[in-house]
Amino acid sequence: MAEIIDGKKISQDLKDEVKVKVAGLKEEGVEVCLAVILVGNDPASTVYVGNKKKACEYTGIKSKSYELPEDTKEEDLLNLIDELNNDKGVNGILVQLPLPKHIDEDKVIRRISPDKDVDGFHPESVGRLSIGVKGFVSCTPAGVIELLKRSNTKLDGANVVVVGRSNIVGKPMAMLLLRENATVTICHSHTKNLQSICRAADVLVVAIGQPKFIDDSYIKEGATVIDVGIHRIEGTKKLCGDVDYEKAFPLAGKITPVPGGVGPMTIAELVNNCYEAAIMQR
Ligand code: GUN
Repeated sequence: MAEIIDGKKISQDLKDEVKVKVAGLKEEGVEVCLAVILVGNDPASTVYVGNKKKACEYTGIKSKSYELPEDTKEEDLLNLIDELNNDKGVNGILVQLPLPKHIDEDKVIRRISPDKDVDGFHPESVGRLSIGVKGFVSCTPAGVIELLKRSNTKLDGANVVVVGRSNIVGKPMAMLLLRENATVTICHSHTKNLQSICRAADVLVVAIGQPKFIDDSYIKEGATVIDVGIHRIEGTKKLCGDVDYEKAFPLAGKITPVPGGVGPMTIAELVNNCYEAAIMQR
């Protein structure tokens, strides 16, 4: 039976640590500030942005909110980013994705100053991670590393399999695991013998966006299983991940639940990145 990795508790600990660090900066006369931009009124994005602002408030970070209409011109959004890039009172800039279709997301991400890129999506941040120099790291994979470390999961020399190769999770996840001296395999929709590769993993990280795709036939006995997925089970109010939790639980050594695993870590890492941005800019 698996030990449950409690993301709610670990994210709370991390937020409490950030709160103390932010208060320390305040004593030195430095206020940490995040600018949050939401374009349109996508319901999921509105909830995410609300939770990010709440986490800022909890940790003592000031948040400046920009809620722009769906038909905002790309140029106006880019101008706002320029303004925030030049504003010394703003340490981090977050543009909630997805953006409306008429706006080029890549162009918007590139416009954010890499010094204020608390999401870690700018090519400069991605490049820094790849060559192993300090920079902002995408919050979800950074949160997974923190879950693994704080649950005493050995990464040095471990066989870690990452299922999924997205720019936001899979690829940065692999880079972070390499930094921890793990032997990393990235799998995706074209991978042959996925089951046998996963069954060789000491640590299995799943981020494929397919409900309950990974069952016990993909898991080695005693392996640590990290589930990045989150889905609403059709016709219910219940959530599930990319891993079939009921089937995986008896076999795994450690496992993250959904909800209450990786999810809460993303926002805790965001506030930590805001603190780091303020330190860097000081
Ligand atoms: N949309 C879904 N996840 C994220 C995230 O981590 N950051 C931003 N900016 N938008 C998102």
